[in-house]
Amino acid sequence: MARNYQSRKRILVTGGAGFLGSHLIDRLLERGDEVVCVDNLFTGAKRNIEHLHSNPRFEFMRHDVCFPLYVEVDEIYNLACPASPIHYQHDPVQTTKTSVIGAINMLGLAKRLKCKIFQASTSEVYGDPHVHPQTEDYWGNVNPIGIRSCYDEGKRCAETLFFDYHRQMGLEVKVARIFNTYGPRMHPADGRVVSNFIMQALKDEPITLYGDGSQTRSFCYRDDLVEGFLRLMDTAPDFAGPVNIGNPNEFTIRELAELVIELTGSRSTLDYRPLPQDDPMQRQPNITVARDTLGWEPKVQLREGLERTIDYFRDFVN
Ligand SMILES: NC(=O)c1ccc[n+]([C@@H]2O[C@H](COP(=O)([O-])OP(=O)(O)OC[C@H]3O[C@@H](n4cnc5c(N)ncnc54)[C@H](O)[C@@H]3O)[C@@H](O)[C@H]2O)c1
Repeated sequence: MARNYQSRKRILVTGGAGFLGSHLIDRLLERGDEVVCVDNLFTGAKRNIEHLHSNPRFEFMRHDVCFPLYVEVDEIYNLACPASPIHYQHDPVQTTKTSVIGAINMLGLAKRLKCKIFQASTSEVYGDPHVHPQTEDYWGNVNPIGIRSCYDEGKRCAETLFFDYHRQMGLEVKVARIFNTYGPRMHPADGRVVSNFIMQALKDEPITLYGDGSQTRSFCYRDDLVEGFLRLMDTAPDFAGPVNIGNPNEFTIRELAELVIELTGSRSTLDYRPLPQDDPMQRQPNITVARDTLGWEPKVQLREGLERTIDYFRDFVN
């Protein structure tokens, strides 16, 4: 619903210069809110928010969430954290700090302001799951000492903190478990499967598949995901989640590669490599809670979302 001068909120988005954060900010500004975007620009980019600088309701602060922040806002969305393995494994200690100390700082701010706070958690909390598709009540199968643990365990600990602030301090929290999401403004060199495949296809380079390409993933288009965030934030105060937000349609990695080759008209071939450590074989959300509680389900099909994403990536190749 569009907000006017009186109903307008002032909203803090951490990680707001990133792929998902910048889209969330677009939606918040479109509906009339004011936004404070906090980001240290580790994986985010000024180009993701440069179209917003002339908007008087938008404010950017370069800040690392590992340090306390003092601002006055009505709501907080906490998205700050590198999301792709290349980036979060680059400085794993900093990744855990961002998730854990960042969560403590943002929860402390929410407690002081008595405002509700959203956490961008992840399907990685399920690790290499024994339950398929994953429901929110599944506790996961996570390696605590592997190369992905800085991200997985950091996000798990952040969830613990959110629920303890909720139980202990009565804070209104909203926890979303995000599954693989793609779309324009993804980092072209983040090593994630969708951006990798598109960049390789656009350059007619071999497409790198790990394992035999039969592992499956589900891919959610960013507009669907952000709609889920906004609906979760609007749920009743006692509803904290966690809620899986993702697209349950499953594709093998090989099917994704073939679709990208078709849509780009590429001459790329498939190049098979060994599977990296702790790479999950299957990942698919059960979205019953999101359907029942948020009235949400994804609408954009993979083909359509990929077409829009490929258009965006062409600028990085030409
Ligand atoms: N994209 C996905 O498929 C996906 C899946 C699961 C969870 N998530 C979560 O969603 C959130 C956003 O992901 P994204 O895909 O937009 O990634 P992204 O890397 O594009 O965005 C993350 C943003 O956080 C910023 N950041 C990192 N460390 C920071 C720090 N210490 N202080 C301040 N800012 C910091 C980065 O500069 C970047 O702008 C992340 O928390 C991520 O874990 C994303």
